[in-house]
Amino acid sequence: MQRIVVLTGAGVSAESGLSTFRGGGGLWDDHRVEDVATPEAFARDPALVHRFYNERRRKAGAARPNAAHHALAELAARDDIHLTLVTQNVDGLHEAAGARDVIHMHGALADALCAACGHRWPAPKVMAAEDPCPDCAMRATRPDIVWFGEIPYHMERIAEALERADIFASIGTSGRVYPAAGFVDHAAARGVTCHGFNLDADEIGPVFDHHHVGPATQTVPAWVATLTS
Ligand code: APR
Repeated sequence: MQRIVVLTGAGVSAESGLSTFRGGGGLWDDHRVEDVATPEAFARDPALVHRFYNERRRKAGAARPNAAHHALAELAARDDIHLTLVTQNVDGLHEAAGARDVIHMHGALADALCAACGHRWPAPKVMAAEDPCPDCAMRATRPDIVWFGEIPYHMERIAEALERADIFASIGTSGRVYPAAGFVDHAAARGVTCHGFNLDADEIGPVFDHHHVGPATQTVPAWVATLTS
């Protein structure tokens, strides 16, 4: 059985109409990370942080998975392939395409987190810090998003999957944020075949054995077809 680890970034959801972070019109063009995506930002102005994520939750809820999400869900469903699908995205579109057991290393817009007790529950459409925690009743509700300066989720499970992978693929990420940006180096050091997928050829580093340049809705289904035919 082939063991494949796939890492996705914002580029895989771009053709579903969701903004990426960097490059023209990215989220970080309109918002400063230090205002909306750090624990300090939340402590300073929770309402501003919630406005930012409530708007992203609204847009993600209106978005539909695209051909890249569906191709990866098809891969995940194969009995002859063991796929570990790791995403930096928080939009839930992999699950909307039918993928199961997706590893959300940066959290998910679909969840709320109690900053007081760590309880997690399904996010309301519009979240506010004053929402009482269903478990401890404290009013310290935050988006279940891993902010800059916080530790990504599921790192042990991801490291284990990388240790056992035969193939690694990185799809639609600028490779600017660690630890995700280092996954390919770890895989390459083990001699694993590495596939890079990006709209922009310059964003696929030389460490990748195969460069799939173009929109993910074209390059990812084409690649999956080579694995499943
Ligand atoms: N098909 C393939 N790649 C695309 C497409 C597309 N249709 N559209 C854009 N891309 C590529 C861009 O060229 C870019 O390299 O997707 C990448 C998106 O990069 P970023 O906007 O930096 O997003 P990402 O890499 O996911 O960011 C990583 O940074 O801000 C944090 O937590 C946030 O998870 C995020 C992390």
